[in-house]
Amino acid sequence: MNFFIKNCDLEKEKTDCIVISIFDGSKLSDSAVYLDKCSNGYITSLIKLGDIPGKIGDAMMLYNVPKIISKRILLVGCGKKNAINKLRFKEILKNTIKIVKKLSIKNIVFSFSEFRINNNNNIYWMIRVIIISIKECLYKIIKINNNNSKSINIKNIILNISKKKDLFTAEISLKHALAIDHAITSAKNLSNLPPNICNPLYLSHKAKELSKKYKDNIIVEVIDIKKMKELGMNAYIAVGDGSRNKPFMSVIKYSGGNTINDKKIALVGKGLTFDTGGISIKPASHMHEMKYDMCGAAAVYGTLIMAAELQLPLTIIGILSGCENMLGANSFRPGDVLTTMSGQTVEILNTDAEGRLVLCDSLTYLERFSPNIVIDVATLTGACVTALGESVSGLFSNNKELENQLYNASQETDDKVWSLPLFSEYYKELSSDVADFSNIGKGKAGAITAACFLSNFTKKYNWAHLDIAGTAWKSGKNKGATGRPVELLCQFLLNQLNDIQH
Ligand code: BES
Ligand code: MN
Ligand code: ZN
Repeated sequence: MNFFIKNCDLEKEKTDCIVISIFDGSKLSDSAVYLDKCSNGYITSLIKLGDIPGKIGDAMMLYNVPKIISKRILLVGCGKKNAINKLRFKEILKNTIKIVKKLSIKNIVFSFSEFRINNNNNIYWMIRVIIISIKECLYKIIKINNNNSKSINIKNIILNISKKKDLFTAEISLKHALAIDHAITSAKNLSNLPPNICNPLYLSHKAKELSKKYKDNIIVEVIDIKKMKELGMNAYIAVGDGSRNKPFMSVIKYSGGNTINDKKIALVGKGLTFDTGGISIKPASHMHEMKYDMCGAAAVYGTLIMAAELQLPLTIIGILSGCENMLGANSFRPGDVLTTMSGQTVEILNTDAEGRLVLCDSLTYLERFSPNIVIDVATLTGACVTALGESVSGLFSNNKELENQLYNASQETDDKVWSLPLFSEYYKELSSDVADFSNIGKGKAGAITAACFLSNFTKKYNWAHLDIAGTAWKSGKNKGATGRPVELLCQFLLNQLNDIQH
């Protein structure tokens, strides 16, 4: 499926379908007004009949419209003209795709360029939302069988830009949207794989693949258990002890073309390819979902793909902290005391609080690169889901500016985050009689104590932590990885460049 930007003569466009919008109270959009004129008032004549919808969810397909070359015109209801925000716009697109994907439509023109999202006619964001939303609607989980052949009919999607002066911005947006979609789709595909295929070694192979595909920009180093031992990454190693699938930490070093600044940004993803809980075993009912406990690593993987596709002039270090938390004769146990790579000791009170153990050594390992910014992404705590639910990721940081930057990027992309505090009261909950701290907090604020734990390992740089336990995948009817927070991370990186240019 291909996307194109074009300044069309709508009435002359040879296509299977033109999609135009109509608002509450049968108010026509500019494109609708134009096609109405070209067709000698065909659309207004239908309005007089009272048949034309305007509410979100409404739609009407018109065939053989006089003087219009396109085979069809789809009128989609968009609700109140001044009340369209990104979420509503996405809903409108979803409804549209639902209709057209059932028909044998190969080529389609979206004429939405006069749209106002949040009362603002911003071509860049409109194109991005259209492309990313359409791709999201059409995403299908790859089945592990040989019948993945049936694909959708739509081949070409033209986005009509009514003002020629907007074409340049629209092209940039198209480029960004395609790279971000590539990132999101790659993260989803990796996350949706079963845990017997996607294990820590597999993650390292995916990382290596990047260094082949983007060989001018990406170098990958894989830290295996032998190297981890030399480095003293005992917390990370302990988590993997119960599994036949040994841990691998993949270090992806990206450096873009003519790097115009020397800022180094590190992204660390929790890559538990399966989390049984270990000796502190999880209940059976939802355990299969713990294959998604590597969604943080998948998000980092995806984000690096977008950086490489767009050749962003940045230095980025991506770490996929691959590991599997199983039970067996060699498993680590509650009561164990581990010496982390930082030298700080941890008393294990629950082997299911394993993500922080893998991450703390990854975060210490990162110090060697002297990064300016480190962001870790992890399906870290069920408590975060209790606190913020399933649409908002938890944000924690030791630096206000970084925290604001991530918040702003999340608002721009609708990949929402909300800050939770790291007050000193919470640190006390991690106290231990036998070690520097324990691996779980005593109270109820589990998302915060987990973040406090991590912050003990991030003193040397500006750091933020995204707890994506609630947002990384969906259960039930539409189950599968969401690809979050890839768009947020991509936007954060793109905004870093704007800062430099200004
Ligand atoms: N991967 C889980 C967190 C999780 C649980 C994410 C459910 C999404 C849904 C993590 O390793 C974990 O088990 N955390 C424990 C921590 C607890 C033992 C302090 C949790 O949240 O229950
Ligand atoms: Mn766990
Ligand atoms: Zn986990």
